[in-house]
Amino acid sequence: MGLPLGMTWRCHFSIVLYTLFTGQIGLTQSINTNLPTSLPLGNGIYDATIEPQVEALLNKMTIAEKVGQLNQIGLGPAANAGGKNNLDYKDLIERGQLGAILGPESAKDINVYQHMAIESSRLHVPIIFGRDVIHGFRTIFPIPLGLASTWDTELVEAAAHIAAREAAATGIRWTFSPMVDIARDARWGRIAEGAGEDPYLGSIMAAAYVRGYQGTRLDTSDSIAACAKHFVGYGAAEGGRDYNTTEISEHTLREIYLPPFNAAVNAGAASIMSAFNALNGVPASANHFTLTQVLRNEWGFRGFVDSDAFAIKELIAHGIANDGANATRKALLAGVDMDMGSNLYHGNLVGLVHSGEVSQANINESARRVLRVKYALGLFSRPYANESNETQAMLRPDAIELARKAAEQSFVLLKNAAFLNGKPLLPLSDKLSKVALIGPLADDAASMLGTWSDSGHSQDVTTLRAAFEKRINMGQLMYAAGSQIGEGSADSDIDAAVNVARQADVVILALGESAEMSGEAASRAELTLPGRQQQLLERVVGTTKPVVLVLFSGRPLAIPWAFEKVPAVIAAWAPGIQAGPALVRTLYGESNPSGRLVISWPRSVGQEPLYYNALNTGRPFGALGQEKFSSRYIDEAKDPQFPFGFGLSYTTFRYGPTEVSRRELQASKLRSALNAGGTTALSVSTVITNTGSVAGDEVAQVYMRLQGTSVAEPIRELKGFRRISLAPGETKKITFNLPPEAFAMWDIRNHHTVEAAKATVWISADSARGTGVEIPIAP
Ligand code: BGC
Repeated sequence: MGLPLGMTWRCHFSIVLYTLFTGQIGLTQSINTNLPTSLPLGNGIYDATIEPQVEALLNKMTIAEKVGQLNQIGLGPAANAGGKNNLDYKDLIERGQLGAILGPESAKDINVYQHMAIESSRLHVPIIFGRDVIHGFRTIFPIPLGLASTWDTELVEAAAHIAAREAAATGIRWTFSPMVDIARDARWGRIAEGAGEDPYLGSIMAAAYVRGYQGTRLDTSDSIAACAKHFVGYGAAEGGRDYNTTEISEHTLREIYLPPFNAAVNAGAASIMSAFNALNGVPASANHFTLTQVLRNEWGFRGFVDSDAFAIKELIAHGIANDGANATRKALLAGVDMDMGSNLYHGNLVGLVHSGEVSQANINESARRVLRVKYALGLFSRPYANESNETQAMLRPDAIELARKAAEQSFVLLKNAAFLNGKPLLPLSDKLSKVALIGPLADDAASMLGTWSDSGHSQDVTTLRAAFEKRINMGQLMYAAGSQIGEGSADSDIDAAVNVARQADVVILALGESAEMSGEAASRAELTLPGRQQQLLERVVGTTKPVVLVLFSGRPLAIPWAFEKVPAVIAAWAPGIQAGPALVRTLYGESNPSGRLVISWPRSVGQEPLYYNALNTGRPFGALGQEKFSSRYIDEAKDPQFPFGFGLSYTTFRYGPTEVSRRELQASKLRSALNAGGTTALSVSTVITNTGSVAGDEVAQVYMRLQGTSVAEPIRELKGFRRISLAPGETKKITFNLPPEAFAMWDIRNHHTVEAAKATVWISADSARGTGVEIPIAP
């Protein structure tokens, strides 16, 4: 039994923000950041006038032509007229048997194919061209893990919009993004591609990406269709090994893994990609429960489902089909509308209809879904890309400026210890005039681009070295790579770097992972610095010079030695084309770090999977008054190196006590309000003061715990957040209006409801701090 349409998982909150400045209280901002609750393909994207056009076209199509709409190819060589992969594109297109192509690279190539479809096929149905536009198209922004670390939905939406503008200018009208997989294990390389471990933040970010790509209407020239992926549970790969099996209870699926997809659907996402993984034994690309019961029936999704690349063929390897025909039947009947790359729908579906194993109604429904999106995109009226507009659409000044801002906001200052006269090492003092820039990532443009930057160019990147060269006199900057990122470093390289460090006042050490060390098929069994970088780090720190470690990576790295010995550490992820300028501005204090972790940072790989919203267990560490028989490791701490939500600033913030607007809540009333889509059940507020001497942004986070429920709920769950700017000495009052949804859970029968419970709420700077306030929820 699922949840009724229109009452889907909604995580909305609104905040009323007051300023308390020099004792004066005044209303400064009223914020409502509700996730959209409109019907799928809503928000003006879905236009009911499309339906008769879709039906009229369907009525004219042969079965083979309908199946053609479900066929996606293009994973082969770059496009050129009549180009060959395993099929003859030209022939297929002219016979109306190719609905979608994954990414030719230019408007010119795309138009070649589109002309074939429009001019030579019987019904002139346009092709939809898709590509992995994941964190920018030509203007490469930080990787999604970095973008999420900004906790800034407007920024993420704006970045997605720029990506859409650039992609659409080449004729790419469909992106395989956002990746909304919850990731709880840093070994999994694709943790880099998502928004981290939290379903609430993941949902807010999912909706922001969809809004950014799709705009208010899909048929405008700078909108592209989103594809939320990978449906579903892919991030729970056992052992963090990519493509591996997942076992997820329905309760956890509904509370943790499904919400960001639901948010993407509610924001109007035009398509969904079915995942590679087996989910409780049934591959996600043949899973009727998730694809049809949940996605189509409970959520009312009206867009189409594309399989992940070759995922239909892989049903054979999974062991649930012994041939292509069976794999085809299982995928289609489960709810996968389009076949990416397997060439199995094309080869088998018509035959399966004739043998009666697949009904015409099934084919009609899948073709209808694909055509609906093509009409919504305006492809029938405007099929071609404007070749003369392509170049000028790229890397516009506003895009570059946003790339820099996004990078700055994505940096998480992990440590900034006292150095000279009790002052923190960062921002760098002008007195430290001789700078040694050391490390294999200090001047590696390609690694700044991160995973999925197919259309990005290394020459668009300003590296840290290039930005330093602009910033300080040549005589004051010394550079040494010191080592390779991976294997192959010579002793002499490390020695040379140590010599450079000895001559400097301060060392900026740029270490971490290359772009290929995270992302797809890049899972790691160790979370250490690759190659000989740890050795380089220890030798440089051994010079006793002050060291700032700038860590580039697609995941958190378990490097406790660094966190103990290095005075200042910044997690910079893969920051995109503006890596250098953003970092130099941050190092010199022109930009004050405000990124916050969206993943729990492990101390060692053995702690994985590690996530803050865990269950308490019956024997939580420390609760028994003794350690031995508690849930822990005998050789490692239980808590993370840095908790979810953590991040430092060049200033400090003080939180007042958390206050609530009511002493008690009632479950029955909350349930009625939940069903009626109520907006405020409880207001929670606090005051936050900037206690330092520089202006800064704080990300206030509201958490909740429910106890006494039919199913154990996490020790804390994020329910809202707000980024606020505070001048030195300034105090602001911040209020979160929590909706009934914030108190809802999936109960023991997998119903979405509010139960009688004891709730505890916190407003805090991260998931491990603050003092909670208890509030009973009476029956
Ligand atoms: C990935 C998807 C991607 C697709 C097309 C697959 O291997 O899992 O995320 O969108 O390739 O490039």
